[in-house]
Formats: sequence, C-alpha cells, structure tokens
Amino acid sequence: NWKMDAFVENSIKTIKEKVGNGKVLCALSGGVDSSVAAVMLSKAVGENLTCVFVDHGLLRKNEGDEVEAVFGPNGNYKLNFIRVNAAERFYSKLAGVSEPEKKRKIIGEEFIRVFEEEAKKIGKVDFLVQGTIYPDVVESGLGGESVVIKSHHNVGGLPDYVDFKEIIEPLRDLFKDEVRKAGLELGIPKHLVFRQPFPGPGLGIRIIGEVTAEKVKIVQDADAIYREEIDKAGLSQEINQYFAALTNMRSVGVMGDYRTYDYAIALRAVKTIDFMTAEAARLPWEVLEKVTNRIINEVDHVNRVLYDITSKPPGTIELE
Ligand code: XMP
Repeated sequence: NWKMDAFVENSIKTIKEKVGNGKVLCALSGGVDSSVAAVMLSKAVGENLTCVFVDHGLLRKNEGDEVEAVFGPNGNYKLNFIRVNAAERFYSKLAGVSEPEKKRKIIGEEFIRVFEEEAKKIGKVDFLVQGTIYPDVVESGLGGESVVIKSHHNVGGLPDYVDFKEIIEPLRDLFKDEVRKAGLELGIPKHLVFRQPFPGPGLGIRIIGEVTAEKVKIVQDADAIYREEIDKAGLSQEINQYFAALTNMRSVGVMGDYRTYDYAIALRAVKTIDFMTAEAARLPWEVLEKVTNRIINEVDHVNRVLYDITSKPPGTIELE
C-alpha cells in the first residue's frame, strides 16, 4: 500500500526532525497501538527512546512476560525497556470501588503516578509518545463528536505530571486497520500486528463491579481458555475482538452432589471494521460448548457461562 509507505516514511522523518537529539519516553502496553508507536519511534530516534511498561496486574494471563519477551533486552528491538510490576498498588486503590467510570479514573491516575515515578528516575524527558488512534480521539469527545462515551485513560494528553516539552501521537489520524498496515510496513511481526486490541484499563473493565486479585485470576483463566479454543477452531483472524468478562452475578448451580453458588462468566466476540460499531460473531455452537465446559471444569468459582450477543450500538464492546 503506497499510501501507508508514505505515511510511515513521513512520520519517521517528521519525528526525527522534531525530536533531534531529545529524550523520548513511551508508555508501552504491548497492544497494537503502543507497539506500533514505539517501533516507529525507535526507528526514528533509536536509543534515545525509553519505553516504560506498567504491569498493572490487569493484563491477560502471561501477558507481562510476553511483552517483555518482545520488547525487553532479549527481544527484537533496540530501545530501553523498563517493566514495572505494580499489581498490588492497583488492587489496593481499586478495593471497594465498583462504579465503572471511577474504576477507569483510578486505573488511569495510578497508571500516570507509576509512570511519573519512572519518568523521574530517567530524568528530564523532552517528548512523550502516546499510541492514541482516531477512534480514541472521537470517543473521548476530543474529535468531531462532543459526547464523552467512556473516558479513555490514555487519551487527552497525560497532563502536568512530568517535565516534557511535547506529546507525540503518531497514530492519531489512523483507524485500527490502518495502524496494522503501518505495523506491517514497519516490519513488526504479524502475530503482534494482528493481535486483538486490549483496553488500557485492562481486566479492570472486564470485571463488572469491584476488582479483586481473586477475580482477576478467574477472568484471566477463563479468558485464556476462550482464546485457546478460538485459536484451535481457526477463528482468531475472523473475529476482531473476543474475550471473557466476569459478571458481578452469582447464581445457583450443581456440581456432583453439591449445590454451588458461584460467578457467571460472560463471553464476548465481535466483528467490526473500525470498533465504532460492531456485531456479535455467530460462533459455532460446538466452540461455545467446549469453552463453556472447560471454563466450568477448570476455573474455580465459575458455575455458569453466558454468551453476549449485543451489538454496538446499543452495547459497547467492553462491558464497562
Ligand atoms: P467500547 O467498549 O468503547 O470499545 O465499544 C471500543 C474499543 O476500544 C477499546 N477500549 C479501550 N481502549 N483504553 C483503550 O486503550 C480504554 O479505556 C478503552 N476502552 C475501550 C475496546 O477494547 C474496544 O476495542
């Protein structure tokens, strides 16, 4: 795609000119957006880039280690990589909080605080990179539409928390599919480029109501099973986003001779082009059945699995 060639080439050139010999700091989540932004920056400024990866304890199963494997010292790129394991901090801030916007706000603010501490250790930074993409801009009320649907914690500029000159948002004009094209253009491995999106607040917004370490473990295990089975069924490239969420509902079930009173997992799978609208994927019944049986047998404290067939609108893709 010649347009994407030009876009990537121009972006790298513009960044190079703008940054010069300045120090650049990037918050890396391991998702497609921040990964593409980080690689773009590393191509432009090399080791003047430092990426900070905050593991907030709300990542998918094994995700922290996977991110480190790609971007860390044994990984594919030349950049300074710092991983911060901050799960306990996030869990304690989230204790007792169940209102979705409050949870997002807490996760966003704590993220900034952790990030700020790392930035201070690094010293003076000139530029800050963010993997903001166009739909984020629009949904945060900063683009053409004025309604705030959900407050995206990584949009709108990380404000006055660290001494830097400017924010660089190289993907601000791109839709998701264009970000992937840019990623391929940059030579990023396909498994990273076509990885499904994962929200900044992570599992924090896939656990309805209060977040606890125990609930995080439940949703991580259920989600890992779901993703494994979708992969095995060869459906991973067909569905744009799929995940397990933990409802805040417990219901009665029966296991062997015992009555159970445990949580319900909600499965979500959507087809979408731009993530602004979406429809539920018509997953094969056998896949749903297999996933359901495995989750109930393998994950403690789950005795019911539900499949969410709501479109967006009126639903959103995430449950909070
Ligand atoms: P919704 O739930 O708004 O999600 O239909 C649309 C897409 O955005 C992702 N999402 C987020 N991404 N920070 C992010 O970086 C956020 O706060 C956030 N909230 C939702 C969601 O996973 C979906 O792909």
